[in-house]
Amino acid sequence: MFVSQKQKHIVETPDTGKWELAGYEAALPVTEKSNPITREIDKADPVQIVHLLKECDAEIFQEEDDTLVNYKRLYSASVLQTMMDVTKKVEAILKDPEHSLIILSGCGTSGRLAFLLATSFNKLLKGLHKNPSYAYIIAGGDKAILTSQEAPEDNPHLGVEALKRVCAGKKKVLFIGISCGLSAPFIAGQLDFCLNNLDVFTPVLVGFNPVSMARNEIIEGWHLTFRQVAEKMEEVQETRRAFILNPAVGPEGISGSSRMKGGSATKIILESLLLAAHKATSNNKEVTAKNLLDWMKTYEKVHKITYSQGKMIAAMVKQAGTSLEKMGRIYYIGWQTLGVMGIIDASECVPTFGTDFSDVRGFINKGYKEMANREGDLTSRGPEFEISHEDFMKNVLPDVTENDTVVFIFTLDDDLLEIEKLANQVKNKTPNLHAISHVTTGQYVSANIKKTFASVMSMTWPIVFFEYEGFFLQKFQRELSTKWILNAISTGGHILKGKIYFNHMIDLKVSNSKLFRRAVAILQRFTSRSPIICQEALLKSIYETDDLSDEIRNIKISTHTTLAATKFKVVPTALVLLTRNCSVAEAMSRIQAKPVVRDTIDRYLTAPGRKRTADQIEMHRDEENE
Ligand code: F6P
Repeated sequence: MFVSQKQKHIVETPDTGKWELAGYEAALPVTEKSNPITREIDKADPVQIVHLLKECDAEIFQEEDDTLVNYKRLYSASVLQTMMDVTKKVEAILKDPEHSLIILSGCGTSGRLAFLLATSFNKLLKGLHKNPSYAYIIAGGDKAILTSQEAPEDNPHLGVEALKRVCAGKKKVLFIGISCGLSAPFIAGQLDFCLNNLDVFTPVLVGFNPVSMARNEIIEGWHLTFRQVAEKMEEVQETRRAFILNPAVGPEGISGSSRMKGGSATKIILESLLLAAHKATSNNKEVTAKNLLDWMKTYEKVHKITYSQGKMIAAMVKQAGTSLEKMGRIYYIGWQTLGVMGIIDASECVPTFGTDFSDVRGFINKGYKEMANREGDLTSRGPEFEISHEDFMKNVLPDVTENDTVVFIFTLDDDLLEIEKLANQVKNKTPNLHAISHVTTGQYVSANIKKTFASVMSMTWPIVFFEYEGFFLQKFQRELSTKWILNAISTGGHILKGKIYFNHMIDLKVSNSKLFRRAVAILQRFTSRSPIICQEALLKSIYETDDLSDEIRNIKISTHTTLAATKFKVVPTALVLLTRNCSVAEAMSRIQAKPVVRDTIDRYLTAPGRKRTADQIEMHRDEENE
């Protein structure tokens, strides 16, 4: 248990690793379980929130426990071996760029990271005067890099079409499909296509559940489940023509929010193995397990360096929470790929916290030119696609008020005069102007910069003495550090705003089948009712009806989620329905009456005589068939 001086609540941090016990929330895969560390995060103050997230992220690097071998972990021998195998395949592709390609693909954040990694490694190659060898696919196309596009994630056919388009004319393709939960049908479709065309494709699946926990739900309009595809991958892996990289990194700090640990672990694994392959190619030397381990261990230092600034991160979390509580906004103004990290964090807030795109936004210097995305400038598609600093100055800054928080993110190698100039203009509008600056040992943030911002968080990185790839490693690590800080700011801010109950996002947008299932599981967890009853309540809330017709009951999930995506607070409304046994109209008006969803839910769930608990989930497996 950790207790801070000024805390109002006592926050329990039960043993890390409790989730590894065989019976812990056995009905759920690791990526959907609730993390015992963050169980009470909704009651935590900013310092505690950052501490809990730090502990949770540290689980990524935890080694396999000899007494508890339920899961393989990041540093497990089998994971390292698979990484070595994949590294060799990468090397082969790099030797024949004309006829080969490495494709990274994912949905939501996994797709955004696929974009970031592919563009970064192409830049690395460009610096060596080599042709690009990487391409990315994101479900929903380039607009999904900036905005939430949840529905295409459910469509395996779209995945296959996108894959065919990107790899046209190539003779050898290393396909890396990222699905943290081993769950996205879009990725399942692509992997299956690769498995059926092994003469051209070598498929690699990256995710953070054992295959036995891969999603086994029937996919609409398709003949396989994700688990069946993953099992096929396992079979083919025996002949080294397909690979699965799936260490367990522990449940997310906010249950199911795979943008957090899942995204970070994806970055660590793929950057380490790709960098190792590039280095081996340029040095003409074999990659060893030790090389790989050394690359990965350097990310542990990133965790240490980042969270050593815990107090400053907590101050920003507090500021973000205050802004959000006052209906203010959070803006990230970033340079180069740190700008991309801001855009990624902001775009995730819409599906994760049910926010409007304008609540948290990211901007990058030179806009789409710096992004180097395949479809180019998307500005004309609407205000949510305006991402350049110029767009911010012209279209956003005039309306910025003192309720808003602005965070600049840069390195001391960026254009400091420009940074100072922009910051001074922002300062005229809001005093809540903060900076995250990445410096190298021996560099110092100037007094001018310091006095421009209300606070400057300086992350100091060691000087890189080694080769070209080393500079990219440092860039990647600054990105990860920024990701951890921004994830803490946006998650912590929304916790303070009352969007989280225990460690569950109770006001999620039910915009695809995975989120539909998650919503039903949340209802089960908090009401002790059966899955069938919970699903009925969810449908009543989505369709705003007290009398569910058989017609509605039998419609495809995709129809439910298309409608649910247009509605607000469907899960909280269903929770009230289940606890009050009232009409939908009454439940909606009760939810609407109070701005803080957590307080309303807490009121109904902790009626006199009822203990505050989130431990109901185990009960329902037995009831499933009732
Ligand atoms: O469905 C939305 C979402 O949960 C995003 O938040 C997430 O980034 C994306 O799906 C991808 O999830 P996964 O990597 O598990 O396929």
